[in-house]
This record gives sequence, C-alpha cells and structure tokens, in this order.
Amino acid sequence: MHMQDAKEVLKLRDICLRFGKAEVLRGVDLSVKQGEVVVIIGGSGSGKTSLLRCINLLNVPSSGSIVIDGETLFDLDRSGADKAGLKPAQVNRIRAQTGMVFQQFNLFPHMTALQNVMEAPVTVKRQNRQEVEKRARDLLAQMGLDQHVDKRPAQLSGGQQQRVAIARALAMDPKVMLFDEPTSALDPELVGEVLKAMVALARSGMTMMVVTHELGFALEIADRVIFIDQGLIAADGPPEQVLLHPEHPRLKQFVGRFHETADLLRPFLEGKTAAATH
Ligand SMILES: Nc1ncnc2c1ncn2[C@@H]1O[C@H](COP(=O)(O)OP(=O)(O)OP(=O)(O)O)[C@@H](O)[C@H]1O
Ligand SMILES: [Mg+2]
Repeated sequence: MHMQDAKEVLKLRDICLRFGKAEVLRGVDLSVKQGEVVVIIGGSGSGKTSLLRCINLLNVPSSGSIVIDGETLFDLDRSGADKAGLKPAQVNRIRAQTGMVFQQFNLFPHMTALQNVMEAPVTVKRQNRQEVEKRARDLLAQMGLDQHVDKRPAQLSGGQQQRVAIARALAMDPKVMLFDEPTSALDPELVGEVLKAMVALARSGMTMMVVTHELGFALEIADRVIFIDQGLIAADGPPEQVLLHPEHPRLKQFVGRFHETADLLRPFLEGKTAAATH
C-alpha cells in the first residue's frame, strides 16, 4: 500500500498528561495512517502505557486533542477550555472505535471464550445475537482457537487467553488496535503464537499501535518505530533506522541492550533489503 495516500485514522496533537505534579506526557504529536503499524518503545516509566491509555481516554489528558477517523474525541487547550463539547454518549461511541489489548489479558473469568468475544457487541452495541455469534466464531477461528470456543480463561494457556482478548477487541470493529506489551506476561514458548496472530492481523490491513520489547516483531512488521523518552517522542522513523542506526543518545543506549536480537535478525533484514531493491 502507498502509505502517503492513506487517510489518517488517528491524530494526536500536543497531548499532555499530569498525575498531580508529575508531567507524564509533555506534548505528544502523532498521526497514524490507515493500515499503518506503529511500534512504541522506550524505557520503563517513559509514558508508553500512559500514551495508549490516553487514546481511549482511560487516562484523560490534561490538554491536547485526539481525532479518530476524522471525528474529534477530545480537544482541550492548555488553558483548559474544552473545544470538543461532546456529550458522554458521543464520547463513548468514538472511543469504542479503538480496541485495546492489555498485558494481563483481562478476560471475564466466568465466561467462555465465545461469551467473552460476544459480550461487548451484544451489550454495548446491541447487535443481533446470532450475527454476533457467527462473527465471534469467525474471529476465534482466525486466532486459531476454533477448538477452544467453549473454554473459560482458566482452561486456556496464556497465549490462548491473549488471542481471545485480541478477538474480543476485534469484535467491536475498531478503527485502530492498541496493544500494551501483549506478550510480556507470557511464558517464552507462548510468545510466538501471539506475535504470529498479530503479524497476520497487521498484514490484513489493521491499523495498529503496539508497545512491545519484541524488536524482532518491530523489524518484521512495523512501518514506523517511535521511541518515547520522558513523555516525549524522541525518535520516529522506519524500523531499520530507529532500531539499527539510532542517533538519539538514550535511544542508542536503549537498543544497545537488544543488539543480540538485532544480530540474529541481520540475515533476515539483508534478505528484505535485497528484495526491496529488485
Ligand atoms: N495512575 C497513575 N498515577 C500516578 N502516576 C502514574 C499513574 N500511571 C502512571 N504514572 C506514572 O507515569 C509515568 C509513566 O508511566 P507509564 O506506565 O506510562 O510508563 P511505561 O512507559 O508504560 O513504563 P513500563 O515500561 O514500565 O510499562 C511513570 O512515572 C508512572 O509512575
Ligand atoms: Mg507500560
């Protein structure tokens, strides 16, 4: 796809977030185009989770604006004046256009995989139950879970639970999917199956923002990698540039820790570069 022609699905402008006196985000500007996969990296406490949580107002920014697929969700200037003036119902409708996947799956423990996926479309969107069920089964099959639809979370592995969580978010037909370290609570042998599902989702054209330390995933699938440092975007560019040729000193230090992984991926990247020049 020609990214320059794609429309903007998400536009953040001057997002600031304070917790008491702490300035956690200090003016984040970011546009994400349709179909784009943006990986977010940064040290602990840099503001990655806070930023994702601002996009669906789980954290309410102290100022800034958020536009999702052309609709303003939030617009507060630095003096505190609300320029969006939305009613709660409008806010809820627009924020439901983002799907979120958390580190700790957050499934409803008393419901089966199928019921978890059906819950929001039936109760929030009041969609037809039969249609929702058909779509939920399709999504679970897409996640490789056709054999597990009637199991409760406790009967599923971490990797299976996380794939149910992805299907559940997709069931609301989001315009953009937000992932906050979706594999970091998993045993190492289960990470691959979740990343594989995410790669397939990215290749299907879903717009995604992914906080992850899986730099191999970033190199393989990201259109852009963003490095957040002390509540600001300190680097933003193609994965090879940001991860393999970092310039920002703290980014250099950050990716230095992952150099072993990058070395393992070098043969793959050389293959990719060779293919791109044909
Ligand atoms: N609800 C909260 N109340 C007060 N401070 C908070 C709250 N949530 C986050 N913070 C602070 O905001 C800063 C950014 O936190 P955030 O969770 O966004 O970092 P992160 O980049 O996701 O880190 P990690 O890699 O450890 O997940 C930290 O200093 C954190 O302590
Ligand atoms: Mg975090």
